[in-house]
Amino acid sequence: MLHGKHILLGITGSIAAYKAATLCRLLIKEGADVQVVMTPLAKQFITPLTMATLSKRPILVEFFDPENGAWNSHVSLGEWADLYLIAPATANTLAKMACGIADNLLLTTYLSARCPVAVAAAMDLDMYAHTATQENLDTLRRRGVEVIEPDEGELASGLSGKGRMAEPEAIVRAIDGILARSEKKKNLSGKHFLVTAGATIEAIDPVRFISNHSSGKMGYALAGELAARGAEVTLVSGRTALPTPAGVRRVDVLSAEEMYRAALEAFDHADGAVMCAAVADYTPEEVADCKIKKGDGELTIRLRRTKDIAAELGTRKGNRLLVGFALETHDEEANAQSKLEKKHFDFVVLNSLRDAGAGFRGDTNKVTFIDHAGHESLPLMPKSEVAARIVDKIESMIDKKS
Ligand code: C5P
Repeated sequence: MLHGKHILLGITGSIAAYKAATLCRLLIKEGADVQVVMTPLAKQFITPLTMATLSKRPILVEFFDPENGAWNSHVSLGEWADLYLIAPATANTLAKMACGIADNLLLTTYLSARCPVAVAAAMDLDMYAHTATQENLDTLRRRGVEVIEPDEGELASGLSGKGRMAEPEAIVRAIDGILARSEKKKNLSGKHFLVTAGATIEAIDPVRFISNHSSGKMGYALAGELAARGAEVTLVSGRTALPTPAGVRRVDVLSAEEMYRAALEAFDHADGAVMCAAVADYTPEEVADCKIKKGDGELTIRLRRTKDIAAELGTRKGNRLLVGFALETHDEEANAQSKLEKKHFDFVVLNSLRDAGAGFRGDTNKVTFIDHAGHESLPLMPKSEVAARIVDKIESMIDKKS
């Protein structure tokens, strides 16, 4: 992927800057054209001469050349680059990026860059773990910056923990993937999808609730994949701990009833919907106003059925595409087949809790597609790849509908 690509390599003031030399060499070996931008402090860690020799281009640090007043245009740098990689990225630079501070050339270039941006964080373990740094990283992720996580191990401070910049080889692999994703064909441009994801929460009283183990990872991966292929995505999300995927509009809900209302509203403008949420089938008939006090005897909570969101969308779908999920523990295929019919799904993604590595929380899944033409079983793969396969199928089916 890197051959002929313009990579802008930003170096900030961290001891890990010495690894930027190897990184630059590897990028050039892969056929990339590398332009280095450094912060003034980075020059204390690695010399501009080293980086200029390796990249075969003069290094840029200041807004203009004090000798002759020549302007180093951050706008043209941002336009030139196919990818802006900041490695190492210090806690200070990450914080400034999150706040939009523009007090050096590396940062002004970040603010004007239109290309994908990746940061390889590097710092002491406590700085990395600090809530301020983690919140800044979350902010950047939400805005579409790709964060290459640091490794665990020995740090320059003598301490050991998570904070060492990823090895140059791993960074090159990561940006290869980022470039591949950014070049994905935008086959779904102009299409709008609703995705439901995560677990709903049904209140018993102001303190307790009924919920389930869904992490939301599969639905979030799907929303991200649809957006990466150019679709406009509304993600109606129950409770998860996940950051919003780049380019996705997220609507947070708690209960099945709230999800029902938000999903119906979004479906009005959608060309299709993927129902990935783990929606409660039952909710307490009454929610206590105050915390229920414990007594000596047993406690009974009466539950009533919630509305089936997917089934409701199925009755209204018309020519639109509706994809459902089925998480089963037994009679998997028969149950999934009956959902296909009952809820008017175009296809069902079946996963069985009996398969190792499938289902809740994990980063992998093993699924079978079930549609009116038959079954297709996929091997165990990362949820991101499962998402790509599901969206491939959505693309082929939506083409036939339009
Ligand atoms: O019937 P079951 O809950 O197993 O069906 C699973 C499918 O239906 C999933 O796609 C799930 O997101 C959707 N569903 C829903 N609303 C419900 C229950 C399930 O949208 N109340």
